[in-house]
Amino acid sequence: MFRSTITTRLYTKEETIPYHLLLLADETLEAIDRYIHKSDCYVFEQEGKILGIYALFRIDNDHVEIKNIAVLEAFQGKGIGTLLIRDAIQKAKDEQYKTILIGTANTAFQQLYLYQKEGFEMDHIKKNFFIDNYPKPIYEKGILLNHMIMLKKALV
Ligand code: ACO
Repeated sequence: MFRSTITTRLYTKEETIPYHLLLLADETLEAIDRYIHKSDCYVFEQEGKILGIYALFRIDNDHVEIKNIAVLEAFQGKGIGTLLIRDAIQKAKDEQYKTILIGTANTAFQQLYLYQKEGFEMDHIKKNFFIDNYPKPIYEKGILLNHMIMLKKALV
């Protein structure tokens, strides 16, 4: 288990984008390409292998959003995701943002649990986000993935 803190580093724009990880958290390359080039990605590595990543996207001077967060499948459930969320919150504070947001699908119960456990509160819903922005209907656990639930956490 990873219990206390982890050290992340800023992934440089010159490095190959780790789509295999980002695709765990988002459905299509096209969707990822809409934000990834304008985001700061932070990675957690062990022995040169990226185990986890998150992408911080500046909305404006006060607001930043975690657009993507993912842990390599074999390392999920060991506490890395929790520590990545905490790291993202700290980075956002260091950069003087007032609010951090994160969005996830209506079907993403584990993620909704994790984000609320780390102090995010449900804020608003982007209705039909997945219907409008993805090429075909996506079902998870038999439920149509349609709305994006936006959660936010105040940093000041
Ligand atoms: N089912 C139910 N609960 C689980 C599961 C599971 N399969 N796995 C972990 N949990 C619980 C843990 O018990 C823990 O709760 P606890 O602290 O009360 O014990 C909590 O979820 C967090 O567990 P972590 O081990 O810290 O999380 P993990 O390292 O697995 O990272 C993450 C979470 C990022 C969601 C990871 O599972 C993942 O990469 N999933 C696939 C990609 C994804 O869905 N990303 C988020 C999409 S939304 C977005 O990107 C903005």
